[in-house]
Amino acid sequence: MGSVFVTRAVPGDALDRLAEAGHSVDLWSGELPPPAADLVAHLATADAALAMVTDRIDAQAIAASPSLKVISNMAVGYDNVDPAVAADAGVWLTNTPGVLAETTADLAFALLMAAARQVARGDRDARAGLWKTWSPTGYLGTDIHGATLGIVGLGEIGEAMARRGRGFGMRILYASRTRKPAVEAAIGAEFTSLDGLLEVADFVSLHMPLTPVTRGLIGARELSLMKSTAILVNTARGTVIDQAALVHALRAATIAAAALDVTDPEPLPASHELFSFPNVVITPHIASASLATRSRMARMAAANIVEVLAGRKPINPVNAPAMPRMPLT
Ligand code: GLV
Repeated sequence: MGSVFVTRAVPGDALDRLAEAGHSVDLWSGELPPPAADLVAHLATADAALAMVTDRIDAQAIAASPSLKVISNMAVGYDNVDPAVAADAGVWLTNTPGVLAETTADLAFALLMAAARQVARGDRDARAGLWKTWSPTGYLGTDIHGATLGIVGLGEIGEAMARRGRGFGMRILYASRTRKPAVEAAIGAEFTSLDGLLEVADFVSLHMPLTPVTRGLIGARELSLMKSTAILVNTARGTVIDQAALVHALRAATIAAAALDVTDPEPLPASHELFSFPNVVITPHIASASLATRSRMARMAAANIVEVLAGRKPINPVNAPAMPRMPLT
């Protein structure tokens, strides 16, 4: 049976399931991710890794881990590992799709509402004694109902966000690699170009994966297309936005606000200029962080490992090694 390096403590019964399948668990119990050298040292003797988005596992680390057969990411995103590099080495890479879409969309919508209605700023002011009186001109925000929501990336999370928007009586626009007629019919979402979306949307919510194409996709030009009253919401990856360009847009007030669950880097240093804007809401990459969802993600990540180490194809592969290190039985 195999040895599984689990890079962080996880909620739920995932580790029990690995043990029940006869595997030994090497658990990194630190609150912070294993530093690169520790990651490499633990992977070197592992048959499987149950890894997080914070664990960059590169070609060198894979080459230095001769018995590693699967990297099972406890995340839907997998930009921390190059799927092709892993496949070339015969290592499966898996993710946890499906189970986190609704929870992630919940947080994206919470951020949208928080930015639109100055929830975080109001809370900060109330705590600091800066709220002096009810005021007819105080904390004037943006209406959500009846507004236009622009969704960039209509995968399962984008679609869940679109449904929430519909529930609030919003008009839904989307820009995506592929057109989704079924979603258009079901939700009444309208397909448009990215530029067209940016020009019209009152809220722009990002839901695309981080790829070479989407890295920096929302740059100075794209931000300049947005309405000065528009609000940008990002629960995808920090680097899909050119963050310097975002700071510039906020400074120049060419957009109204930003709500970010992801930044570059994570965490942002406390002195970062983004923290200086009252109209910016920042949460610590918690979009999938409900107890139930994180437990399901961990269980799914464990199940993928159990399959591979039993000589079966994983349930959620994102690559396809031609010659898997663990032969299929
Ligand atoms: C989290 O960021 C994920 O990709 O699941």
